[in-house]
Amino acid sequence: MNKSEKTLSYEFKSLIKRLRIKQKKFFRDLYQSLYLIIYTKNNLKYKNKVDLVQNEFKNIYYDVGPEHGILHGLEYDGASTHCNQCLFTIARLLNAKNVLEIGSYHYRTANQLGRAIDKNIGKNESGDVITIDIIKGGYDNIIKDEHIWNHRVKPYFWYAYKTDDTKNLSNLELDNSNMENKDIVKENIKILNNILEKNKINFFDLIFLDGDHTYEGLKNDIEIVKNFSTRETLIVVDNIWDERMLDVKQVFDELTYKKWNFKEFNDKHYHKNQVQDTGIFIFNT
Ligand SMILES: C[S@@+](CC[C@H](N)C(=O)[O-])C[C@H]1O[C@@H](n2cnc3c(N)ncnc32)[C@H](O)[C@@H]1O
Repeated sequence: MNKSEKTLSYEFKSLIKRLRIKQKKFFRDLYQSLYLIIYTKNNLKYKNKVDLVQNEFKNIYYDVGPEHGILHGLEYDGASTHCNQCLFTIARLLNAKNVLEIGSYHYRTANQLGRAIDKNIGKNESGDVITIDIIKGGYDNIIKDEHIWNHRVKPYFWYAYKTDDTKNLSNLELDNSNMENKDIVKENIKILNNILEKNKINFFDLIFLDGDHTYEGLKNDIEIVKNFSTRETLIVVDNIWDERMLDVKQVFDELTYKKWNFKEFNDKHYHKNQVQDTGIFIFNT
């Protein structure tokens, strides 16, 4: 096979792969919509959102294939991550309308959350994905307009809380060089309050924490989002099953709130390579 034949064959294979994923997504959307028509009333019986996800995620989840990340080191070593599908499914199960994300990067998860909201309430009702980062284009600073393809995704920036993760970063969107962490926290809370006011958001159904992955950075994000949560807000923490992010696991393990780490689901689905690398919790029951 010459070079152009090889390129053509590669392009053909990737087209087939994309079409297969599209087809799976079509069936997933259909399946999940049917599930929600049948079980939404029944799901109101759960006392809180952690119980709801712990009991119903396995019933509504429909896998469309492995994603980019591979878990390292801990119990599910080598399994592919399914973060986009996990968030999409949780947002569907909660019938989410407004979501906050810390850690936008290239807006992959934000777009999925926007798409789930479209499915929940249609394209015209109001509902937002507020997504916050500290650098345009995330750590690698790659800025492309086409990263955001869902109309609900609203990108914002706040001051980087100073931790081992953030202290050597350049290109920060907001200059924090003369600020102490306590002032950064105050300013970031102000920024969030302004965002809520501007977008007329009273309540977040879902908050996704995927920004700073150090112990102190994640703990600080949790303290901040506590101010913007009610007992109905589900918090999702990414990367709790990977040895490269043991700080995240430690923070999650130490939480004394009502929580769940997908262990039963993962144990059951590990052999099918459908592991979820997230944990969930709520502040009050
Ligand atoms: C793992 S990536 C997020 C990936 C994204 N959620 C996705 O899956 O498409 C982490 C992002 O968090 C950002 N970040 C790091 N520290 C942060 C902080 N204190 N506040 C907000 N974002 C932060 C980084 O710039 C980076 O873009």
